[in-house]
Amino acid sequence: MDAVTDTNVYEPHQWKHSTIVAGVKWKNPVGTASGTFQLAACRWFYDVSQMGAICTKGVSPEPWQGNPGPRTAETPAGMVNSVGLQNPGVDHYLVDELPKLKDLGATVITNVAGHSDDEYAEVVAKLADSRADMLEINVSCPNVNHGGMSVGTDPEALHRLIDRLRKITSKPMIVKLSPNVTDITAIARAAVDAGADALSLINTLVGMRIDIRTGEPILSNRTGGVSGPAIFPIALSYVWRVRQALPDIPIIGIGGIDSGEKALEYLYAGANAVEVGAAALYDPTAPLRVARELDDLLDSRPELAAKLAAGETWR
Ligand SMILES: Cc1cc2nc3c(=O)[nH]c(=O)nc-3n(C[C@H](O)[C@H](O)[C@H](O)COP(=O)(O)O)c2cc1C
Repeated sequence: MDAVTDTNVYEPHQWKHSTIVAGVKWKNPVGTASGTFQLAACRWFYDVSQMGAICTKGVSPEPWQGNPGPRTAETPAGMVNSVGLQNPGVDHYLVDELPKLKDLGATVITNVAGHSDDEYAEVVAKLADSRADMLEINVSCPNVNHGGMSVGTDPEALHRLIDRLRKITSKPMIVKLSPNVTDITAIARAAVDAGADALSLINTLVGMRIDIRTGEPILSNRTGGVSGPAIFPIALSYVWRVRQALPDIPIIGIGGIDSGEKALEYLYAGANAVEVGAAALYDPTAPLRVARELDDLLDSRPELAAKLAAGETWR
């Protein structure tokens, strides 16, 4: 394993290795994964403008309460959550979190949630002239009853939705894919054919825990989404398969990343960039630490670093 020389996130750092995702320059190839970053909490731990990109919690047309508790449980090497996309709604986001993030100098990906095509369209229309750098359409959340994963597991429904959203916005549009499908490449193709500029993968895998004292599911929603180190090799293979099927589409790899080495594996699998999720819930500085580690690891891989900086990928 390569030596990692600089992981102190509190020291000033000059980024050496950037990437380009769908025409947007990231100062390094590491972003935060949706739902695991909140400005009010994370800004006390690190300078958010240092991240390659900040991907926000999903925003919906109206405020959503999310699911009742319990919403999280531990799993072997990870966790299962059924937060249910709790958020204050797009109008609040537009006057609060988004301007604050932009004023701090962050590159912002706004994650979009909806219960129907109309709801996704309403949010995207409101974001079309906003300061968001990129939009990420979450068609893969396993924790809402309508929209979310039901769209992202049906190529025809997904094509219809992305085609409609494409006509509303010229912003770089990332489609976030679900692993809970038989053939992720068919879903990926549908998104790209309909006008997606990039893909991010994966969202969480459906899972659950049962309390053996009661014999009942721990999560009030019964099932939830599994994330964390346990899903790393699965997510990596999905990125690999999508890259083999679609050589040209920018890909953001997500799942189980908690070190620069794991981020590097995604880049070798063909990703342009990565996002760090669950690791930030036990170590809020994890996304920036991973970015620092990767920046050093890329020093000894000039060919890979040059490809990323030019908007290309290893394979
Ligand atoms: C508590 C929690 C909330 C999440 N909320 C969202 C969300 O709002 N939108 C979304 O697209 N993904 C959401 N995700 C999925 C993550 O962005 C990521 O795709 C997934 O957790 C896998 O990455 P990880 O193993 O690094 O956590 C959430 C994950 C967690 C753990």
